[in-house]
Parts: sequence; C-alpha cells; structure tokens
Amino acid sequence: MKATLAVLAGDGIGPEVTAEALRVLEAVASRFGHDFTFHAAPVGAAAIDLTGEPLPKATLEVARASDAILFGAIGDPRFADPSHKVRPEQAILGLRRELALYANLRPVVTYPAVYDASPLKAELLAHVDIMVVRELTGGIYFGTKSRSASEASDLCVYTRPEIERIVHLGARLAMARRSKLTSVDKANVLETSRLWRAVVDDVMAAHYPSVAVEHMYIDAAAMHLLRRPADFDVVITENMFGDILTDEASMLPGSLGLCPSASLGAGSLGLYEPIHGSAPDIAGRGIANPIGTILSAALLLRHSLSLPEEAAAIERAVGATLSAGIRTADLRPSGPAASTVQVGDAVIARLGEA
Ligand code: IPM
Ligand code: MG
Repeated sequence: MKATLAVLAGDGIGPEVTAEALRVLEAVASRFGHDFTFHAAPVGAAAIDLTGEPLPKATLEVARASDAILFGAIGDPRFADPSHKVRPEQAILGLRRELALYANLRPVVTYPAVYDASPLKAELLAHVDIMVVRELTGGIYFGTKSRSASEASDLCVYTRPEIERIVHLGARLAMARRSKLTSVDKANVLETSRLWRAVVDDVMAAHYPSVAVEHMYIDAAAMHLLRRPADFDVVITENMFGDILTDEASMLPGSLGLCPSASLGAGSLGLYEPIHGSAPDIAGRGIANPIGTILSAALLLRHSLSLPEEAAAIERAVGATLSAGIRTADLRPSGPAASTVQVGDAVIARLGEA
C-alpha cells in the first residue's frame, strides 16, 4: 500500500529514536511491498527556535495531510521554568486537541529477557499484558485555567459522550483480549469520576454483558499495579490519572524507553509516540533506547494503516532482539550496552524471522 507519514521528531533524543523507527518502517515497506513517503516537520523546542511557535501551522498541516504521524519527543531544559508562556509541551497538547485524538492506547507488556531491568521481582512480571486506554482530550488538562497572584484553578470537566467513546473503545479491546475491563477513577471524591463510573456501568450493561467490569480508585490502582500487575487486562481512565499510571506501569517492563503509545480519534489518522520524554541528559550520544518508538511504529501500522501482520513482525523482532541480549543502557545490560543504532540494526535483522 501507499501511505504518507508525517515525522515530527522534536527535541532531545526524539530525532535519534525516530530515525531508528523510520529505518524499521523502510525495512518493513521493502519486505512487504509497501510504499511509505515521509514528511518531516519541526515541533516542540526545535520549532520554537525556528518559528517562535511550538506547533507551527505548517507542521499541523503536514500532520493533517498525512495518513499517520510518527512523533518523537518534545521538551528542552531551556523551558524548565514552568512559568514560560510558550512551551514545547503545547505542541503535543495542540496536536491532540486539533486532531481530536481523544484516546491514548498505552500497551504495557513485560519481556522475560529483561525482567532484571525492572525494579519489581521477576515473579510479579510473568504474564503482564496490560492495555491502558487514557482519555486524552478532556479533563483537567483542557479545562479552563485561571491564575492570579494568590489563586489558581484548573477546571476538570467531562461530558457523557467523551466518556462513552472511551468505554466503547476499552470494551472492544477487552473483547479481543481477556474480556476484563478495569475502570480507574476517584469516585469517592470527584464528581467527574462519579459521572465516569455511571457511564461505564450504563455502556457496559447495555452493550458488553460478556466483559467483566471492575471499578478501582486511582490510589488503589497505583498500588495494585505493582502488587499484582498480571491481573490487569484493559484499563480505562481519565486524562491525568492515565498520564501518571502509565509512567508507573513502565517500570513493569523496566524502562520508559520500552513503552509505545497510539493516540486515536474518530477516523484512521493517529499519532504514535513513545511515552518517554526528550531526555536531554542523554541526547546526542547515540545511547537512547529506540524500542518505544519502534513499537509505536508497529502500532501505527496496526491502527492507522490496518497492517496487523507487519505490526506483529516488528513486535516479534523487538522481542527477539531483547532475547538476544541486545539492550541499551537504560535496561542495565550485564554486558556492554548496545547503541541506539545497534538496536535498530538488530530489530531490522530479525524482521524476517518467524
Ligand atoms: C505524556 C506526557 C505529556 C502529557 C506532556 C509532555 C504534556 O507526559 O504524553 O504522557 O502529560 O500528556
Ligand atoms: Mg506523561
């Protein structure tokens, strides 16, 4: 098939990890007979330097005109002071909002070959296969904000339709997996959570009677995620809870560098990015872990281009690479650490294997 992909590599390690995902996509294209065209555009601090804006109009147009967006990372120590008015983060928040990418899929799987990279005991890590669906365009992130010298407020708002579409997506995913849905909220305190819980019950009872549903408070979920991670199947939750819970969940596979994500809307256009940030401390050294971005490219093939076999080939090649002991420094290798490019090479070399 022919596809046009926007490549927004961004800041810090973004360009390095994105380069490896592009090489993997090119290898997939040649092996499976596809034709991918890549359109690069600036985003984040890199775009602020060029144009004064984190998300230039031209970049948004490149994104809109594409079949899917591969996104690296944004963030720069020059903007560490949170009072900066123009910020690299506005780029990713703007893309999510402008493209109405309301659902963020964050799969969390563990790999036996790197159990030792996780701070958790190996016995807890077997059979961990979680799909977190984070609501991405509502809640406290996007509510009205106000600030005076002595007072500040961030409004958290959810509407029934915003919650319904997340529940439907989570339930459909659960039906293709282990038919278990955990909805995470804070319904003992928050009104938005009480609405969330009611909508989950309504939608599930009306449409998905075969899926087992449980409700869990966010504080308890944060604990159970570490105590019994293998018990979770699909987790649905609101924007900020999902942000926090998935950074925590990344410690199950052992590194933020292993975790991909897909941001989806109503159509097939999606944005695919690793869940890690721009890691300025290691940028430019060729040591960043490209696997989160490579697995994001796999999600891109699956969800935006409907190429599930190609996606699975990448996921198997990543598993085989880790099994072969090839790891970047974040995974605490027992031998010498592999470079970003060496991991890319290793994944490409294994693409054709069973
Ligand atoms: C993420 C990030 C973003 C978020 C930041 C960069 C705005 O932490 O994608 O998880 O909070 O959503
Ligand atoms: Mg985050």
